[in-house]
Amino acid sequence: MSTPTANTVNFEQRMQQINDLRQKSIIGGGPKRIEKQHEQGKMTARERLALLLDPGSFEEVDPFKIHRCHNFGMEKNTNPGDGVVTGFGTINGRAVYVYSQDFTVSGGSLSETNSEKICKLLDMAMKNGAPFIGLNDSGGARIQEGIESLAGYANIFFRNVMASGVVPQISAIFGPCAGGAVYSPALTDFTIMAKNTSYMFLTGPKVVKSVTHEDVTTEELGGATMHTTKSGVAHYAADSEHDAIDYIKRLLSYVPQNNMENPATIICNDPIDRAEKSLNSIVPEVASRPYDIKDVIFATADEGDFFEIQSDFADNIVIGFARYGGRSVGIVANQPKILAGVLDCNASVKSARFIRFCDCFNIPIVSFVDVPGFLPGTAQEYMGVIRHGAKLMYAYAEATVPKITIITRKNYGGAYCVMSSKHLRGDINYAWPTAEIAVMGAKGAGEILYAKEAKEHGIESKFIEEKEQEYTEAFLNPFRAAERGYVDDIIEPAATRYKIIRALIMLQNKKDSNPAKKHGNIPL
Ligand code: HXC
Repeated sequence: MSTPTANTVNFEQRMQQINDLRQKSIIGGGPKRIEKQHEQGKMTARERLALLLDPGSFEEVDPFKIHRCHNFGMEKNTNPGDGVVTGFGTINGRAVYVYSQDFTVSGGSLSETNSEKICKLLDMAMKNGAPFIGLNDSGGARIQEGIESLAGYANIFFRNVMASGVVPQISAIFGPCAGGAVYSPALTDFTIMAKNTSYMFLTGPKVVKSVTHEDVTTEELGGATMHTTKSGVAHYAADSEHDAIDYIKRLLSYVPQNNMENPATIICNDPIDRAEKSLNSIVPEVASRPYDIKDVIFATADEGDFFEIQSDFADNIVIGFARYGGRSVGIVANQPKILAGVLDCNASVKSARFIRFCDCFNIPIVSFVDVPGFLPGTAQEYMGVIRHGAKLMYAYAEATVPKITIITRKNYGGAYCVMSSKHLRGDINYAWPTAEIAVMGAKGAGEILYAKEAKEHGIESKFIEEKEQEYTEAFLNPFRAAERGYVDDIIEPAATRYKIIRALIMLQNKKDSNPAKKHGNIPL
């Protein structure tokens, strides 16, 4: 038996030391600050992780890392882990990499070392091909550090950009997220905010007041409701942190782990040939009458299940995930119930970004089309509807995933070209018997073609009415497009589900590509 020397490490003592440090990291800023967190209706960083990840699956990385700052007394103020908990685990058995900012330690502020931990995780997520999730609750750049902290942010932003399109990236905002800190969530694919306890803005209400003299509350300036209804910065305003975490789990179920994989196909208990007779009469006989396109989605998707994204922003277009025959798809649908389903700046940007996400991650796109065109007017033109509409065109055109298009009613003008038309490499384009595929509606056509006669006889005259009728009969139907093969078939609406599933099966080995280039130049 060897006799311990003065230099020999006593294993039990060392383990005790490790456990003490780990415990210190676990309690973060201590009971008082944890209590404050709870009083504000917020969970702690570790409580959030426990809820997000499968029980017992979390493996922490860098729990002993501490900052290197020696200014403003920071040398006496260290905490193992340094205000961010990082690691990997599983959600429903699938690997994810995650960081969770600990507001109880220096307000979750981002230090140089704190950033190193997040960057290490992002590098691991990319190398190993698994989603990256950030749970944000931070006072921003660690004020005592200055430039190191800013460099830390920039290092994260750079990795967010490199990881874009390689692994899905999701940000949850569970507290403050201000200044440049907002750019990491903005660079990720989806941002989820908790109502009333989180905010995102570049400059807070005090700076706003001094610069623009506006009186605005934190909630009005950067709360979850604002960002999901007005700015479109966030994708979901969760009622609680629990709700936000459930949303993240559901979202992940539709997407693959990385850009080299396909989304998982799950067992489908809903008959694939289920006919939905209600669809045969869902489009009103009067063309100007609205109906809810979501009813078409609910009626056709597996189990009527649709996971809508950004439901409160630009709701003249509907986006989200569903499954057909167990296969995950991204849905883009004009919404005739809102602004007659017209395309405008916000609708174009919302759907273009979603289409690009689906294309990055091999998720087929199903488009339901009922669109009268782009919204006219100075407001839209001044905002650059041309530029924004071009984004949607670009996104559809460059997408190489299977693209299935169902034209339910109107498909006019430029919007015809944009909405996943055959000309932008739509793979399967079906029209319902109610489809009207033309340059414009009959009234507009009559007014332009017979402007002189309208002046002479009056806009409501029998002559103009007859011309409108003539245009309706000639063009406002699916036949002209079908004759040219711009739609592949005219289908009975009741059969839509079966047709989509058959198309998805037929397209499952689709291979398509774009010309070799460094990258395209999407009209930003
Ligand atoms: C260091 C910070 C901190 C920060 C908060 N704390 N923010 N420590 N750096 N950025 C510390 C506080 O000193 C306090 O420590 C603890 O965190 C909790 O903060 P409180 O103020 O008590 O909490 P609360 O009242 O809830 O207010 C939260 C807050 C406020 C609104 C976030 O702390 C705040 O305004 N912080 C500063 C925000 C800021 O200006 N950050 C820099 C933004 S510029 P103790 O020990 O008392 O518990 C930026 C640039 C990024 O981020 C650029 C990237 C390119």
